[in-house]
Amino acid sequence: MNTAKRRTVIAGNWKMNFTPDQATAFINELKPMVAGKDNCDIIFCAPYVTIAAAQAAAQGSNIKIGAENVHFAPNGAYTGEVSAEMLKAIGVEYVIIGHSERRQYFGETDETVNLRTKAALAAGMTVILCLGEVKEQRLAGITDEVVAMQTKLDLAGVSAEELKRVIIAYEPVWAIGTGLTATPEQAEETCASIRRVVASMYGNDAAEALTIQYGGSMNDANAADLLAKTNVDGGLIGGASLVAKKFTAIVDAAQ
Ligand code: PGA
Repeated sequence: MNTAKRRTVIAGNWKMNFTPDQATAFINELKPMVAGKDNCDIIFCAPYVTIAAAQAAAQGSNIKIGAENVHFAPNGAYTGEVSAEMLKAIGVEYVIIGHSERRQYFGETDETVNLRTKAALAAGMTVILCLGEVKEQRLAGITDEVVAMQTKLDLAGVSAEELKRVIIAYEPVWAIGTGLTATPEQAEETCASIRRVVASMYGNDAAEALTIQYGGSMNDANAADLLAKTNVDGGLIGGASLVAKKFTAIVDAAQ
C-alpha cells in the first residue's frame, strides 16, 4: 500500500452466497468489529436480491454495499440483466465488472467488460475492474502481456476523469477459490506491471493515484504480507468475506 498516494480498499465479493436474512445477520455481526477502522474503504458486493437487506443493515456504518455485475445497455430486451440506472436508483455506487467467473462461465469478453465498464462509469458509479492471467499463461511467462492487453482493452474509451472512479482488482485466475495465493512478490510485480500500463495510457499521476487490489485466496493469514507491498492497495476477497472474523482480520491488516 502507498497510503500517501491512494486509498486502500478492502472489498468482499459474496458471489452467489447469502440470502437477505443471512446478509443482514452477517453485517450486524461485522459492524461493531470494523467500526472506526477508517484507513480503508470497506465494500461488500452482493447478489442483486440481497443488496437492499445489506444496505439497510449497513446504514450509518462504514460499510458500503455494491453489486457483482451490471449490463451495458440502459434498458431493453436483456433477460436476466440489470442496468446501471437500476443500481443507481437503489443507491448502489460500486460494481464489480469482469470477474473471472463471469469471463469463464458466462461468456464475458474484454469487449463486454469494456462496454459494462463504460456504462457504469457514465452512470457515475465506481467500478472494480477484475483482470488476471490463467495458470497456463503464468507458466508460459506471459502474465505481463496478458494483463497489459486486458487493461488496455477493458479501459478503452475510459476518460482520465472517469479513471478516478476505477479500482483495478488483479486476480490471477489460478488463485481464485483454490487456496493457492500469489506470493506477495508475484502480486507486487504484476500490480506494478498493471500500473505501468495505466501510466502509459493516462500518465504517471493518474497511475499513481489508482487503487490496485489483489484478489485470489486472500485471507486472515496472508493479507498482511500482501498488503505490505507498495503496489497492492487492497484486496478483493471471496471466501474470507463470508466470515466476519476473517474479514475483520484483513481490514486490520490494512490499518
Ligand atoms: P477467493 O475469491 O478469495 O475466494 O479466492 C476472490 C474473488 O474471486 O474475488
